[in-house]
Amino acid sequence: MPILKMIQRQRDALRITVSALALLSVATAQAADPTPAKSVPEQLVDTLEQLAGGPHAGYRANHAKGIVVTGSFTPTPAARGLSKAEHFQGPKVPVLVRFSDTTGVPNLPDANPNASPHGIAIRFQLADNESTDIVSISYNGFPVATPEDFLTFLNAVAASRADAPKPTPVETFLASHPAAKAFATDPKPAPVSFATLPFYGVNSFSFTNAKGESHYGRYRIIPVAGDHRLSPAEVEKATPNYLMDELPQRLAKGPVKFKISVQLAQDGDAITDGSIAWGDDHKEVALGTLTLTKVLANSATIEKQLAFSPLRLTGGIAPSADPVLLARPAAYAISLGRRIGK
Ligand code: HEM
Repeated sequence: MPILKMIQRQRDALRITVSALALLSVATAQAADPTPAKSVPEQLVDTLEQLAGGPHAGYRANHAKGIVVTGSFTPTPAARGLSKAEHFQGPKVPVLVRFSDTTGVPNLPDANPNASPHGIAIRFQLADNESTDIVSISYNGFPVATPEDFLTFLNAVAASRADAPKPTPVETFLASHPAAKAFATDPKPAPVSFATLPFYGVNSFSFTNAKGESHYGRYRIIPVAGDHRLSPAEVEKATPNYLMDELPQRLAKGPVKFKISVQLAQDGDAITDGSIAWGDDHKEVALGTLTLTKVLANSATIEKQLAFSPLRLTGGIAPSADPVLLARPAAYAISLGRRIGK
């Protein structure tokens, strides 16, 4: 069965990554310091678990609560003009998509402000059991530019319990980090549905076409149904799992569609800093339509074994030097290793 094969292959690959990381940290510790220093990605996972009141056995350290659906992706002709990536050549490829709530709290109410930004992780099935992923959030920007600053931010949040003296560590951090302040304070009203929420890639990638022409860009995943949010009164009445419950009901009536595009970088844009959003005046290349048709019957079982990565790439798409992007796979592999018990 293709889905199980996909999961088996990615687990093998990630086990190797986790073992390699473990060996690396042992070697580093033996060579330098008697006290083994934890890597920044490992400290990030520790802090995410701590903030979620975890670790919660079997769950992701972040984006713990989710739902997995299937469907297909149909590229536009413009997609192949941007990149020679296999899934942009047509006619269409199967996809596996996981929508999620932020935080590592597995039973977080979907309308809780901490559940936002929500996540979308898309796996495109390619030939020969290969695959490639897009992993995005419903806010156009990351709070900080580097993994080190993300760790400082999360540690400041952890040290700012209700009884912490003013200014709290997080207040001090936000005062000197405007992007983090905007991320923390911009209104992010709870969506009516996962199907009515726009998602943003945040990190930049380099796209190369068959002629060898390359452009930096960022993904946008825009709902065909439009961007619709709950009113404050509706948030009050929302049931704890309203997003997870609504999606199967909506899919029973018909497919859910998103338009995927790439926003192209202009001269002077921050390519390696995902905390700076690019303006809406930027040129966009329409990549194609994501058509989602059904929730996996065994979504809860499958999601435990699934592991997405923003660096699961295919020829024609390469990472930028954004340090947050480059740190993500290590953090995800550590989280996977812990949740599947390796
Ligand atoms: C250094 C920065 C970041 C860290 C440390 C981090 C950490 C994590 C961890 C530990 C997981 C759970 C992985 C797993 O167990 O499979 C996760 C999942 C996720 N992250 Fe991040 N993340 C970072 C940046 C980002 C960014 C920039 C985005 C999007 C623009 C993002 C979107 C997501 C999404 C959507 C998921 C859920 C994937 C799924 O459904 O399996 N993260 N993150």
